[in-house]
Formats: sequence, C-alpha cells, structure tokens
Amino acid sequence: MLKIENLSIKVLNKEILNNINLTINDGEIHVIMGPNGIGKSSLCHCIMGNPDYVISNGNIFYDKENLNLLDVAKRAKLGIYYLFQNPPMIEGVTNSAMIRAALTSKTGEHIDIFKFNKELKEVANKLNLDPSFIHREVNVNMSGGEKKKNEMLNLWMLKPNFIMLDELDSGLDVDSIKVVLNSLKEYIKKYKASLLIITHNTKIFDYLKPDYIHILNNKTIVKTGNINLAYEIEKNGFNEISKSFKISENKSYE
Ligand SMILES: Nc1ncnc2c1ncn2[C@@H]1O[C@H](COP(=O)(O)OP(=O)(O)OP(=O)(O)O)[C@@H](O)[C@H]1O
Ligand SMILES: [Mg+2]
Repeated sequence: MLKIENLSIKVLNKEILNNINLTINDGEIHVIMGPNGIGKSSLCHCIMGNPDYVISNGNIFYDKENLNLLDVAKRAKLGIYYLFQNPPMIEGVTNSAMIRAALTSKTGEHIDIFKFNKELKEVANKLNLDPSFIHREVNVNMSGGEKKKNEMLNLWMLKPNFIMLDELDSGLDVDSIKVVLNSLKEYIKKYKASLLIITHNTKIFDYLKPDYIHILNNKTIVKTGNINLAYEIEKNGFNEISKSFKISENKSYE
C-alpha cells in the first residue's frame, strides 16, 4: 500500500536521507530504529507532505497515487496520518473544533454535532481522559503524555489507514503506555490499518508485534530484519549493525 522508491530528501538544501526503499503492505507493522538525528522524523514529515522536506530524488506511492504530486491535505484525505514526536500547540482552537474541522475536510460531509460529541466523549473515556479534555485548546499546557493521548483521540475520530507513530511511547507513564498501546492495538484490528513506528524502546513490542524492523543509519536503511534485530540493537548498539551493512540487505524483506 505504501511504496517508497529510491527516495532522497533534503532539508534547507542539505541531504538528510539517500536512496530509501521501503514497501509497507496493508495491515503490516514496520518499525524504524536509528540513532538520534539520523532522519527518522524527517522521513515521516516527507511522507506526510511537509514542504520543508524536499524530495530530491525518488517517489512515494500510496496505493496507486504518487504522493509527490499531492499536498498534505490530499494525503490526509487518502487516510495517511502522522502522529508527531512533538505535537504542535494551537492556541484558541479546542480539540473538539479541530477534530470536527479535520473530519469535515476529510469526508466533505456535514457532521451531526450530537453524534460527533457523543463519539468523542466515548473515545476520551476509553483513553482515561476527563470529558472536559475535548474542550481544551489543542496541546496548550498539556503534559507530554496528554499530548500523545490527544493524538490517539484524533486517530480514533479520523480513522486513517496508514499511521506513522513517532516515539508514541516517549513521555508516557507505565499505566498510560498500557492504555495507549492497547487502544492502538484495538484500532488496527478494527480498521486493518498499517503502521510505521519510530521508537527507541522495545517495550512497545510487548503490545504490538512488528513484521519488520529497519535500521536507519548513514542516510539510508542499512538493515531489515524481524523483531530479533531490535533486541540485537538494544544489546549491541547501532554501530556494530551498521558496520556489517551490505547494500543487498536492505531489499531482502521485499
Ligand atoms: N525542519 C528542519 N530544519 C532544519 N533541520 C532539520 C529540520 N528537520 C530535521 N532537521 C535536521 O535533520 C536531521 C535529522 O533530524 P530528524 O528529526 O529527522 O532526526 P531523528 O532521527 O528523528 O532523531 P531523534 O531520534 O532525535 O528524534 C537533524 O540533523 C536535524 O537537525
Ligand atoms: Mg525524531
């Protein structure tokens, strides 16, 4: 469903990523791990269509659409969602208003306010969020964990099929991790969504079983493997893995 071919990305005219190849089929869970500052979030921004991340080579396809030709709103309409590492604050706009506007834009349909509020409150309740949460300004004065839960609220309401989760687990306490990851598990089962997870933490795999782990280093995917690769990284670090990189390895999973 998502196919990245020979992708190179520049930010402020500096090359961040080079020759990325990645195919994520429907219902699959892929994980990208890599050192800080290597370009994991940049890849997500680029897939979502943030114009600061310029494609200098290659293509991104989603189903049959070439995403290179589509702006952020069109990509969101196709069902692509990026759960930010650092969700932005939007002063003066409530969660409820923001989600309703996004939903109207996505579906192009009139939204029944009573049905919408009822569903929003039910989702908030499942995420252990106070009902008043839906009337708070988007991410304003929210704790790190609340911001991540807020993103989950968006996800349940907007129902995307391809979701990029950028360090979802960071800032969540042990109970919140359970709530959020179980909610995510329930979501992907219900909507058959596929995931691209960015994480530094293998704890997430207690809840979600990845199909593939990709290691990003030196601007590209240097190795792809199963869950054991993540445990190997945890034990030995990224340098040992990257040293043994051969070009042929990054296509082995396709
Ligand atoms: N909008 C931007 N403007 C300027 N530089 C940027 C921008 N976004 C990313 N970069 C730079 O690109 C590089 C990759 O950053 P990115 O945020 O993608 O790393 P990351 O792998 O997600 O790291 P982390 O694990 O710390 O989240 C970094 O050197 C960063 O400073
Ligand atoms: Mg990042």
